[in-house]
Amino acid sequence: MFFFCSIWVNRLRSRVATPLVVALTVLLALTASAQQTERVEDPDVQRRMDTMNAAKAALVPLAQMMAGRIRFDRSIAADARKRLIRATRSIPGRFRRPHSDPLSRASPRIWADWDSFTARARTARSAAQGLNTQTLNGLRRTLPQLMQSCLGCHQSYRMPP
Ligand code: HEC
Repeated sequence: MFFFCSIWVNRLRSRVATPLVVALTVLLALTASAQQTERVEDPDVQRRMDTMNAAKAALVPLAQMMAGRIRFDRSIAADARKRLIRATRSIPGRFRRPHSDPLSRASPRIWADWDSFTARARTARSAAQGLNTQTLNGLRRTLPQLMQSCLGCHQSYRMPP
């Protein structure tokens, strides 16, 4: 009996562990932005950061639901999906002009590789559209792709602090 139980627990664990680890890693990566005491001077740089922070704010409850830290709520999830679509859709417009600021971590490669940058924004947008917010399982299946699209773009175009 114990044997069968432990097999079952292990199978359950391995099914849940991957999305859990992904969700927690991403949460950490996204919330680890340094506390800023100085202010961004360039308003266009501030606006693109606001867009990114809106994306993060929408992503956090979804990641928490996926990790089981808060209860799945279909209407909160659907609302977060809408906000993620809106934020990812506005990325190209927010970055079109190469504004810079001492506090910005945007890589100059964004404007050298503009087509690849906007392709990454499109990938994020379709991942946001593809989010399944009907069920917790649906969310678990579809959220990792969105998270990877955030982190993938950051790896290429957001400079380390
Ligand atoms: C197409 C590329 C791209 C995608 C996709 C992308 N980001 Fe970003 N993100 C950036 C860049 C570039 C910066 C740095 C902007 C700066 O410092 O001027 C950034 C910065 C941020 C910041 C820090 C903002 C600040 O106040 O300094 C957060 C938070 C963030 N992104 C969250 C997200 C989330 C969540 C997603 C996915 C839903 C996402 N990003 C998708 C390119 C992207």
